[in-house]
Amino acid sequence: MNDIAGFDAWNAGQNYEHYMGRWSRQIAAKYVEWLAPPRDAAWLEVGCGTGALTEAILSHCGPRSLLSTDPSDAFLAHARSTIDDRRVRFEAASGQGLPADDASMDVVAAALVLNFVPDRPSALAEMQRVLKPDGWLSFYVWDYPGGGVGFIDAFWKAAAEVDPEAAVLDERRRFPFCTRDGLAKICHAAGLRSLAIEPIEIETVFLDFEAFWRPFTLGAGPAPGYCASIPEGHRAVLKSHLASALKSNGPIRLAARAWAVKAHRDADGNSRPRRSPR
Ligand SMILES: C[S@@+](CC[C@H](N)C(=O)[O-])C[C@H]1O[C@@H](n2cnc3c(N)ncnc32)[C@H](O)[C@@H]1O
Repeated sequence: MNDIAGFDAWNAGQNYEHYMGRWSRQIAAKYVEWLAPPRDAAWLEVGCGTGALTEAILSHCGPRSLLSTDPSDAFLAHARSTIDDRRVRFEAASGQGLPADDASMDVVAAALVLNFVPDRPSALAEMQRVLKPDGWLSFYVWDYPGGGVGFIDAFWKAAAEVDPEAAVLDERRRFPFCTRDGLAKICHAAGLRSLAIEPIEIETVFLDFEAFWRPFTLGAGPAPGYCASIPEGHRAVLKSHLASALKSNGPIRLAARAWAVKAHRDADGNSRPRRSPR
């Protein structure tokens, strides 16, 4: 397991939608409500994936313009094919090199992305570079360390019991900074001060165990990437181990919690949270 990030399969937009997109859409809707951003703003989105947050911004935030970026051509193709709105433009880019001028954006946001960016300090610096002096910087990540994403946590626990080497791939272990304190620390180190950090939670509901298991077999995302990499027999053992661990004959309901962060940079280059002007 040398190339841990190599299992993060960011391809096949429809499969990602089935694994994660349908849940990230629900979190995105709650997030924009919590954020209460200014209307008529110029937005930049980092790691837009298949467009979960993109749609929420367009539907609820009244943006003047939205530049949505992601390094995955497959995800961008999915987003372009499903979102038809003259205010949005999609562009291939990493969070470490955003295709925007200095101080050109009112709001820069990233949904469930920052933990996957290899150089987080450089991504946070880049997000600040493109932000206007009084702009908003905001993002959210899953609460992996708190076991906050029930379906992913259950998968990795079972995977490590069947294959101890899989433990290094567990997102709980890979992303220990995704806590309130951990996020405050990386934000302070990036020069963002007086942050607002709050949990946002949804419920993930699966009709039965087969409905729970299937998204893991579709190869899009870290756990499905691992699942696709193991031999058929090993996958069958993992499936039956996971089914026993969940002890469910009917619907499976698990919480999924994200930590949402917002900060406002003032004209002096400091940052503080700001109330919506609405
Ligand atoms: C869990 S998905 C989130 C996608 C979408 N924002 C959502 O909420 O559903 C993580 C996304 O991060 C993107 N990503 C991976 N590495 C990245 C990087 N270095 N810079 C920006 N985005 C990255 C992936 O392509 C993928 O779309």
